[in-house]
Amino acid sequence: MLELEDIVRTFRVADRDATILRGITLRVGKREVVSIMGGSGSGKTTFMNIVGLLDKPTSGRYRIDGQDVLTADADRLSGLRNQLIGFVFQSLFLMPRLNVWRNVALPLFYRRTPLPEAKAQALAMLERVGLAAYADYMPNQVSGGMRQRVAIARALVGRPAVLLADEPTGALDVQAGQDIMDLFMQINRDLGVLIMIITHDPNIAAQCRRQLVLRAGVLVDETHLAAA
Ligand SMILES: Nc1ncnc2c1ncn2[C@@H]1O[C@H](COP(=O)(O)OP(=O)(O)OP(=O)(O)O)[C@@H](O)[C@H]1O
Ligand SMILES: [Mg+2]
Repeated sequence: MLELEDIVRTFRVADRDATILRGITLRVGKREVVSIMGGSGSGKTTFMNIVGLLDKPTSGRYRIDGQDVLTADADRLSGLRNQLIGFVFQSLFLMPRLNVWRNVALPLFYRRTPLPEAKAQALAMLERVGLAAYADYMPNQVSGGMRQRVAIARALVGRPAVLLADEPTGALDVQAGQDIMDLFMQINRDLGVLIMIITHDPNIAAQCRRQLVLRAGVLVDETHLAAA
């Protein structure tokens, strides 16, 4: 599903080039669950932005679902992104003036899905994340863990093949974080979505079938170490 080859990302800051990603090669199959760990500033978010088609590498090759993304123009990129990828960020970006189901339906509104259909799909996704009873609540009327579920429902409502989550449990206590992790695993089983999770929590990473670590700009697969 994801084929990245020798990805390099350099930022130019104050007349100096800083190379954050130094040649990352990674293949991830459909339905995999992958964690990415690494110290603060190691380039995890930078890498996820490239995987999610929000940023382009300085050099390298990247194919998603068999399609070369580095030669694609901006329109085609945003088309691929909308079609293939759902994002969950640590800071949620829920719209405070929209109720829960409208927040979930937002990606469908952007796609011009008719309202009754958008609402039905949003409610179905809320049911899946255990929030059917909260569809008419406002975001500030539900807990942080629930808001994270709303964000997950929104990321999934367009039926992406890839779900990217940047520290989705970082702001939650241990139990709420575990509940979110259980939900990811259930979603992976039921919908077959490839899930990539950035986390600082070794317990969260250990639950992923594949565990990657970013160190000095290089991505190391440490799955076998965790299993030993
Ligand atoms: N747009 C940018 N311009 C210049 N430098 C950037 C840019 N984006 C990221 N960087 C630099 O790249 C490095 C990696 O940042 P990144 O946000 O990817 O780290 P991270 O691993 O996600 O860290 P954290 O765990 O704190 O979220 C940092 O040194 C950061 O300053
Ligand atoms: Mg980050």
